[in-house]
Amino acid sequence: MAETMYKGEPINGDFAGKDFISIQQVSRSDLEIVYSAADVLRVIREEKLPISLLNNQYQLANVYYEPSTRTSSSHAAAWRRLGGGVDTINNVSFSSVVKGESLKHTVQTLEAFSEMVVLRHGQVGAAALAALALDKPVMNAGDGVGEHPTQALLDGYTLERELGGIDDKVITIAGDLLHGRTTHSLMQLLALYKPRRVNLVAPPEYQMPQQYIDLVTSKGIEVVLHVGLEAVLPETDALYMVRLQRERLESDTHLPVEKQVVKKVNKIINHGSALQKEALGTDFDAALERLFGTIKHSSSESERDMARFLLYAINGTLPEVKVLKNGNGFNDNIYVLTPELMATMKDEAKVLHPMPIAGEIEDEVDADPRAVYLEQVENGMYVRGALMSEIMDVNVHEAKLQYDINQERVAAIRRYADYLKESDHVPPEINWQLQLAELAISKAT
Ligand code: NCD
Repeated sequence: MAETMYKGEPINGDFAGKDFISIQQVSRSDLEIVYSAADVLRVIREEKLPISLLNNQYQLANVYYEPSTRTSSSHAAAWRRLGGGVDTINNVSFSSVVKGESLKHTVQTLEAFSEMVVLRHGQVGAAALAALALDKPVMNAGDGVGEHPTQALLDGYTLERELGGIDDKVITIAGDLLHGRTTHSLMQLLALYKPRRVNLVAPPEYQMPQQYIDLVTSKGIEVVLHVGLEAVLPETDALYMVRLQRERLESDTHLPVEKQVVKKVNKIINHGSALQKEALGTDFDAALERLFGTIKHSSSESERDMARFLLYAINGTLPEVKVLKNGNGFNDNIYVLTPELMATMKDEAKVLHPMPIAGEIEDEVDADPRAVYLEQVENGMYVRGALMSEIMDVNVHEAKLQYDINQERVAAIRRYADYLKESDHVPPEINWQLQLAELAISKAT
């Protein structure tokens, strides 16, 4: 299934009209196209240049079946800054989806009003399905535990800007790498570069899916798996952290049952009720049995389900349960980046995070100049705007050049008008030239 799934067409230097579903579509030179356009969009924004690339002729359908703050507002801001209009549907529970409408019909409806559809959905492959159903371009804004390719673009742009390049650098990715879709797309992006080493830091149950490790190592890049974070920090040039994706922990039916048990048990340890936690006490095995006693007769099906898993944990041999509970660096948030840990990192190292941060980076770290996750957020708007304008076949460089040439012309006319005004020897018949120059200035500004 994974092999045959539609992943968008290869870009090969031309984004126009194409879907953007997977980072697999791009090459290193495609990245350059997007990144150089992003640099221009930054200048347009910073210098407040009145350049409209979409001329109010284009509408974006920005559709979210899963929660989003940054991704939805960044796509909307990017498109608006290009000069287009946006419909954001941030909560499909207010749409006809609750009436049972299929994804296909929902996106087909929105396509009728728009020139592009941005879609986030909980299901792997949802953006691909939408793209196959639509003629207009679809951008994947995250599909379940699959990919988040526009996030990888902005992560790559941020790494390049902040590190001065990715080649020869040590990149450390830490957290829930099993469910963190941004890390899946980032791995595919790193495979386009030549980092010196990629450290993947996660408890074994949350480690990166093998296919992405294989992809990166197949390019001759060293990938090292770690359980503890501390040892790799001193050599790290960029630390990319992700949160524990709690909302996805239930959907691990693809994992072997013992791994599912470990997760269930840890869920009780970390998120159980006060009663359950008290029942745990300090003797872990005895506590598990007591805990089981409290939930096996529960009226809630999910609690009884948990009891079944616990029974398995009690009767089976599951050393990982203890490893996870007492393991190196593991806690509720898997890893927590503290100012003390930051002190062990290089002065020029950078810390990235796709956000939201849910406790895995302490607040004090925000003030450290090496923490660049807010720069990452801003970069996202320029990078997405660049990608969107390329897909809409609007050339950002040309638009900026036209604007600059126009400014030059205005300046030249202004100089000429000033000359005419100040000159004592202008024959009266040349006054019409002065009027013409003033008219040209007023039209051009
Ligand atoms: C991420 C996502 O939704 O995958 N957030 C984002 O888009 N910046 C990361 C996350 O939710 O943890």
